[in-house]
Amino acid sequence: MIIDVRKVIRERRTILDYKPEKVGQELLLEIMNGAAYAPNHYMKQPWKIRIYEDDARSSFGEKIVDSYIRLGYLKTLSADKLQQARLAYDRFFKSVPHHILFYIEKEDNGYLDDENFAAVCAYIQNLQLLAWEKGIGSMWTAKETLRDKIFIRDIGLSPEKHKLVAVVQIGYPNKVPKGKERTPIEHKIEWVKSDLKVEERV
Ligand SMILES: Cc1cc2nc3c(=O)[nH]c(=O)nc-3n(C[C@H](O)[C@H](O)[C@H](O)COP(=O)(O)O)c2cc1C
Repeated sequence: MIIDVRKVIRERRTILDYKPEKVGQELLLEIMNGAAYAPNHYMKQPWKIRIYEDDARSSFGEKIVDSYIRLGYLKTLSADKLQQARLAYDRFFKSVPHHILFYIEKEDNGYLDDENFAAVCAYIQNLQLLAWEKGIGSMWTAKETLRDKIFIRDIGLSPEKHKLVAVVQIGYPNKVPKGKERTPIEHKIEWVKSDLKVEERV
């Protein structure tokens, strides 16, 4: 079977709304093994992965919302509204079959952390595309919570040893949103052909 990579890249959407059924473990592992062919320096394959599913989704979501509160995201809400927001978040976390946390082990050299972080991002993009090709949707999420030391400890990791990269929601889409157009890349490119002098953009 020939897969049109351009088509998968073009048609993938970030999915917010999922069907309740889980992705079978065998298929999930097939996709996640495929994603591991992402480029990674020194073949470190630095991705460390935790999959929260079933009852763990609520507990994980609760710690995320605790972090949102610490970070002041919900500070305009009254106690009543905050309680309602907690319930709404809980419904959301339970509506997604799998929440996949990606993190790396910190190295002594911060630059190597950047490389490892970048490799995990390449892994995540592969995962999103391979999943989409199987009719499975996902959503890449990242917020300041990933740098919240209390949150990192709350989920049993160590802010001294670990750096969180993203949480990816995954499952079969219930609703697929419309595509979002991209800016033509010509608007982002500066051509440099001699003496480091940037030429006019197209
Ligand atoms: C690093 C990163 C963080 C993101 N964080 C969020 C997020 O917190 N919430 C969200 O709804 N989408 C998040 N997204 C998804 C983007 O919003 C989405 O990719 C963008 O709107 C384009 O839509 P598309 O993926 O359907 O083409 C994130 C994407 C990346 C790469």
